Amino acid sequence: MTTITTIDDLKAIYKRRVPRMFYDYTESGSWTEQTFRDNVSDFDLIRLRQRIAVDMSDRTLASTMAGQEVAMPVALAPVGFTGMQSADGEIKAARAAEAFGVPYTLSTMSICSIEDVAAHTSEPFWFQLYVMRDEEFVDNIIARAKNAGVSALVLTLDLQVLGQRHKDLKNGLSAPPKLTPSTIANLATKWRWGFEMLQTRRHSFGNIVGHAKNVENMGSLSSWTAEQFDPKLDWNTIARLKEKWGGKLILKGILDPDDAVRAADLGCDAIVVSNHGGRQLDGALSSIRMLPSILAAVGDRVEVWLDSGIRSGQDVLKARAMGAHGVMIGRAYIYGLGAMGQAGVTKSLEIIMRELDLTMALCGKRDINTVDRDILLIPKDFEGDWA
Ligand SMILES: Cc1cc2nc3c(=O)[nH]c(=O)nc-3n(C[C@H](O)[C@H](O)[C@H](O)COP(=O)(O)O)c2cc1C
Repeated sequence: MTTITTIDDLKAIYKRRVPRMFYDYTESGSWTEQTFRDNVSDFDLIRLRQRIAVDMSDRTLASTMAGQEVAMPVALAPVGFTGMQSADGEIKAARAAEAFGVPYTLSTMSICSIEDVAAHTSEPFWFQLYVMRDEEFVDNIIARAKNAGVSALVLTLDLQVLGQRHKDLKNGLSAPPKLTPSTIANLATKWRWGFEMLQTRRHSFGNIVGHAKNVENMGSLSSWTAEQFDPKLDWNTIARLKEKWGGKLILKGILDPDDAVRAADLGCDAIVVSNHGGRQLDGALSSIRMLPSILAAVGDRVEVWLDSGIRSGQDVLKARAMGAHGVMIGRAYIYGLGAMGQAGVTKSLEIIMRELDLTMALCGKRDINTVDRDILLIPKDFEGDWA
């Protein structure tokens, strides 16, 4: 086997091992995928200042996110269908994150339930909520998260309606996969994945099936989302949910300075500058490009994090140096999970941590908490001159 040194190495193995339907689900953006691509390529526009003859010994990446101590300021983002990338995938990812000392966020659309993940971990994790029309279901899932000891609620605000990803429609994405002739032909080549899936009973959406009314058939994700997700979600709903939850609240999916100010006014613990990894509004600017104007709008009234497009420790450093207090990674750890299960998630985190540490040192810094804009070379027109 090749020596794994990058997140891309993990992605190549992931592509070979996981059924095409689930690989495509991860590796898609909406419509033309312009925003999906920009999220990654805009990081490449930012360069780093090489410094020399400064003490680079005794370095530390330890920091905090929303008051929680972290080994590095990187949290695992909520990712739906994780338990279809690898059997019991959410439990594996949560365990890898816990051992590493970074937060794990469980998605509403997970295969393993909140209770399942709690039973297989010993530290509290975070839970991401999609707001559904069924208020009773929402109230109930908030209560379940509290009972399971969830330590922060991540409210995702950029998916009231589902962006169209062509491949998911063409593949008939579902959990468990529907057995059509082409799915069967593809599954036949993924014996390791299939063998592990046969060992677990967790094959559908554990937080939803059996908990939401009239949900027996979630065959089509797109029609189910259209029926269940609440398109009316507004700031009043967010305030009501904040009250109901009563704990640490992170608002995810903010990409506009005006929305960031509303979020800061509401008094949440952090906001995540995010375009959902390019999966929702195609044509939106990349998160890293929107970060400066959002930081300018909210100042230090709220902790500002970023996700979308992070594929390396260098990207983490760039985001942090530009002013994001922390980041979330989605695909970067899913590649690892699909490639090698729990060990693969650990590998993703190790790769990112090593790249972050070495790059920080070569930029002449020893403590992640002292890294600032000074280490970056950002093109003058980076944010763009948009009318
Ligand atoms: C396959 C996939 C599934 C996702 N599912 C969810 C989800 O269930 N809830 C959510 O809030 N965000 C979801 N996201 C968005 C991620 O939380 C995160 O914003 C995104 O992955 C960041 O971009 P990156 O993948 O480039 O790191 C998903 C992303 C991917 C790639």
